[in-house]
Amino acid sequence: MTGPSARAILAGPKANERQIIVFETEGRCADFVVSLWREICKETLEARPFVNVALSGGRSPVGVYRALAKQKDLPWGKVHIFMVDERFVPHDDEDSNFGMALKALLDHVPIPAVNIHPIETKLKGPDRAAQDYEKKLSQHFNLKKGELPRFDIVMLGLGEDGHTASIFPGSPVADDAGNRVWPVFAKGHGYDRVTLTMPVINNARHIFILVLGHNKAAILRKIVDDRDRALPASHVRPTHGQLLVIADRDAAGSLAHGSYSEGQTKMGYSHG
Ligand code: 6PG
Repeated sequence: MTGPSARAILAGPKANERQIIVFETEGRCADFVVSLWREICKETLEARPFVNVALSGGRSPVGVYRALAKQKDLPWGKVHIFMVDERFVPHDDEDSNFGMALKALLDHVPIPAVNIHPIETKLKGPDRAAQDYEKKLSQHFNLKKGELPRFDIVMLGLGEDGHTASIFPGSPVADDAGNRVWPVFAKGHGYDRVTLTMPVINNARHIFILVLGHNKAAILRKIVDDRDRALPASHVRPTHGQLLVIADRDAAGSLAHGSYSEGQTKMGYSHG
């Protein structure tokens, strides 16, 4: 069975609508994300000189990054890569998000080094790293005080506790101070971290949340069906963009409307 066309999906929902798209396997999810990247690169470069992307870490996107690594003909010279969040470990540590993105994707495509903007973890601590990253964003996007960067693509994952990026349950999701980047200090989640703030994520043109595996089924249900506002991932709501939740059948299997077939979409789930 052929899946939905990336072009149709991207053209389909009106601003601020959200869709869940379910595929049988992780591989099919990855193929679909590749086709979304193709369309977005094409459409973005018709209007602007670069495509600005923010990548998450974790295990889920590895397959997607490996699939993207095979797309040598994507306009890599015009793609700028940032990280959504980083664990405060050296980039060559096996837990580094940037290290994973290098190994799975960036080392294999003809992307200029100047287009790659990691979160620096050699600095004194996550607060210094957050300031440094804030500066990088502000220079690259030419931001004035109070302005937010507008990424073309933000790739997110979903933690089993409902976190996304490095915004964990119990952390604030709003940011009245207008920060673009937060330091995050470990409280039971392993490492100190640095993360883009929710307002930056929500300012993106296209946000993809990739949700794979049985272990994500319960939390996906809490976000989609129960609309649990205590969970940070429930606050991903593009202010003038599009959100696609891309899930495999294992992760989507417990949703109230769980009998999806390959490539079937559910439109506009909302938080009321
Ligand atoms: C990280 C992330 C994080 C991730 C989720 C899901 O540093 O871990 O960027 O937000 O996307 O924790 O991770 P998995 O895909 O490994 O389940």
